[in-house]
Amino acid sequence: MSLKPRKILQVLQGQTICPPPIWLMRQAGRYLPEYRETRARAGGFLDLCYNPDFAVEVTLQPIRRYRFDAAILFSDILVIPDALHRNVRFTEGLGPQMDPISADEIALLKGDNVLDHLNPVIETVRRLRDELPEETALLGFCGAPWTVATYMIAGKGTTDQAPARLFAYQYPNQFGFLLDLLADISADYLVAQIDAGADAVQIFDSWAGILGEQEFDAFAVKPVARMIASVKARRPGAKIIAFAKGAGLLLKDYRQKTGADAIGLDWTVPLNFAAELQKDGPVQGNLDPVRVVAGGNSLDDGIDRILQALGNGPLIFNLGHGITPQANPDHVTALVNRVRGFTA
Ligand code: CP3
Repeated sequence: MSLKPRKILQVLQGQTICPPPIWLMRQAGRYLPEYRETRARAGGFLDLCYNPDFAVEVTLQPIRRYRFDAAILFSDILVIPDALHRNVRFTEGLGPQMDPISADEIALLKGDNVLDHLNPVIETVRRLRDELPEETALLGFCGAPWTVATYMIAGKGTTDQAPARLFAYQYPNQFGFLLDLLADISADYLVAQIDAGADAVQIFDSWAGILGEQEFDAFAVKPVARMIASVKARRPGAKIIAFAKGAGLLLKDYRQKTGADAIGLDWTVPLNFAAELQKDGPVQGNLDPVRVVAGGNSLDDGIDRILQALGNGPLIFNLGHGITPQANPDHVTALVNRVRGFTA
């Protein structure tokens, strides 16, 4: 244990820290001029992810500006399909694209060399732990199998993930095989990040909210539970945050069913329900990212409501989803100062 405590780790152990520690999903990104500058020098987005010099630099940028309590590794959830040779590309204005996978191709997927392919990302984690201030936690991450599978099946982002839902109904065996494969290689990837120095990891299930009750259990809960069990069997002290965006009432048993230490909450989760969930353990969230675009009273009011409802229990202050490119960097300063000024 370090001399200066990493507050996010204390919260992940169940402690209440006042004021709560804070970091923001997508805190390294296009709202920062220094990110846009490095991004332009790196060339493509994946070049940024796979070049440890650039990836370390953009991870540290928001820490220098705001002294967040955690840095999150700069990478993307789609490096896993990239490592599976799905020809992932990020084209300006189009979002991510890759070759849509067919039911027949799934059995041919090979997970063997995934960690070799991702070695530059692991190198980034190693260097970050050396370069970060002692009190700053380092978070690793990956996508949840369902969310990664939605992109692999459609070959791009969609608004309702209908292609992946249809595929799951039409080819249940192949789909189940894909989820299990993604769970197993993602668990190996998280273990590698932890061994390289990540203090905790977050699993992003950004598309969990599009699923019906039965499908949520089969496609979101079970694969994430499988991943967490695999990581914890090998690294019993590992701390894991699971973020199932849009899951609403289905979050009720999500922590217990998945084995996550903390659960991430999006901004649609009512604060009284969030307080109920917090009785079972730490929660993270859940400010509407658009309030950071608006600033002023809307920002202050959103922050205060969360602190009042959740500030007296184990809380990691965060947004309810990633910060948007339109966010004003000065509004982030105001956000951090307001959270840090909170007294119970
Ligand atoms: O949080 C951080 O600062 C760490 C980096 C991070 C990125 N993506 C960088 C990124 C993390 C944790 C992610 C996760 C991610 N990536 C998710 C889950 C979280 C979420 O937002 O729901 C998803 C679904 C993806 C897939 C992805 N990557 C999409 C859909 C896009 C395009 C949409 C967009 O915002 O442009 C990306 C690109 C991406 N990933 C960018 C960044 C900073 C922007 C690309 C650029 O710089 O041109």
